[in-house]
This record gives sequence, structure tokens and C-alpha cells, in this order.
Amino acid sequence: MAAIINGKEIAANVKAEVRAEVEALKAKGANPGLAVVLVGNNPASRVYVSNKEKDCAEVGFASYEYALPEETTEEELLELVAKLNADPKINGILVQLPLPKQICEQTILHAISPSKDVDAFHPENVGRIMIGDYSFLPCTPAGVIEMLDAAGVDINGKHCVVIGRSNIVGKPMGMLLLHRNGTVTICHSRTKDLAEQTRQADILIAAVGKADFVTADMVKPGAVVIDVGMNRNAEGKLVGDVCYDEVEKVASAITPVPGGVGPMTRAILMRNTLTAAKMQNP
Ligand code: GUN
Repeated sequence: MAAIINGKEIAANVKAEVRAEVEALKAKGANPGLAVVLVGNNPASRVYVSNKEKDCAEVGFASYEYALPEETTEEELLELVAKLNADPKINGILVQLPLPKQICEQTILHAISPSKDVDAFHPENVGRIMIGDYSFLPCTPAGVIEMLDAAGVDINGKHCVVIGRSNIVGKPMGMLLLHRNGTVTICHSRTKDLAEQTRQADILIAAVGKADFVTADMVKPGAVVIDVGMNRNAEGKLVGDVCYDEVEKVASAITPVPGGVGPMTRAILMRNTLTAAKMQNP
């Protein structure tokens, strides 16, 4: 039976560290704040945004919510982003994705000031992650690394297989593992014989977006399995990408859903907001 890597607990420790530093900043007269922009009525996005606001309250950040209607134009959103870029009480800006189809996500993400880009989605920050010279951590991948560290998993020299090549998770995940001297394979929908690849993994990271995608036969006995998925199954229950019940019998350690990677992503967002606030209040 696998050890369970408790993301909620590790996230609470990260947030406690952030909270202490926020208090120190406030003692110097700063009032650090995060702007969270939500466009439209995506129910999952609403939940994510309200969770981020709860996290802000917990660590002591002011949070400013901008809820815009579904029919908001790209120009209107660009105007808001420009206003937030210029506002000294806003240290970090997060525009919740996905955006409605009339708005080009790339145009918006490129418009956010790199110094307030707490998601690390701006090309300047993405490039910095690539070369290992970065201030903002990519939230989900950095959360995964933090969990591996907290669980005592040594990445150095290990074969790390990432399933998924998104800009938000798969690609930066591969890069962070590489920075920690992992040997990295990134698999995707065109990978031939996926199970053959995943069975090589000492550390297997699933970021596919499909419930029950990773089955026990895809996992090497003793592997560490990290589940980034957040899916609703047929009964509406929140589940990951990994068939937990069967994989936990094979893996040496595994992350649950919920209570695994999700809380870590949120905790790293708070750490990034702190980094932004410190850079802007030197
Ligand atoms: N939508 C799903 N994940 C994320 C994230 O990490 N950041 C933002 N801005 N939107 C998301």
C-alpha cells in the first residue's frame, strides 16, 4: 500500500511561511494585494477564484475580485489589465482561464506586466523558467516539486515521466524536474505505446485531464505517482487522472484527489504573490 502524500498539510505549511512574511511586510507599512479577474460564468472557475480569495485572507493579502460578464470584449479586458498593471496597490494579477471564445488568451497573458504575473504565464517568465533564472514559480509544477521534497522523494537521476504537454503543467513540469537533475520524458496524445513509457517511470506525473486514465498496469511497482488531474466523473465526484484504488496498491507513494496537488497550486500562488509584493516593496 502506498504512502499518501498529503497536499493539504504541505500546502498549510507553505501558507504559514507566506503568512509570516506577509506580516513582516505589513509591519513595514505595505498592504500587499492580489487582483483576481474572472470573465463569464464557468462554474469550476468560480470555485477556483473563490478558493484563491480564501487563501489570500488566510495569509493576509488583500484580494480584489473583478467579475466581468461573459460577453466582455478583448479590448475591455485589456483595459482592465492596463489599469491593474498601473495600480500600486495591486502586486499580483491573475486572470482565470479559460476565457470566453471572443478573447484571445495569449493576447491577455502577454499584456500582464511580467512583474505582476503571479501565474508565470507571460513569455518573459516562461523563458526565465526555461533557463532556470526565475522569480515566479509555475504554480502547479512548483507545487508538485514541493510535495516531492516534503515526502522525501529524491528527484536527482530519477526517470520522471510526465503525461501531458500543456503550457500550464506538462512543459514547465518537465523543466523543473530537469533543473532538479531528473531524466525527463514528456508523453502526450501522439506518444506510441504510452504504457511502455510510463512503466519506466520512477516518478510518474499525470496531467492529462481524463478520469481513470492511469491504470495499475501503467505503473512500475514502487513508483511515486503524482496526480494533477481534476475531473468530474459520471456521478459528479471530483476525481484525478489516476485510478487511485488500483494504483495505490502498486505505487510506493501517491497523491490523492482532492487534497493533493490542488491545494499546492494555490499555496504556490500565494508564495508568488509574496515574491511580487517583495519585489515591489524593496
Ligand atoms: N485555470 C486552470 N488553472 C489555472 C491557473 O493555474 N491559472 C489561471 N489563471 N487559470 C487557470
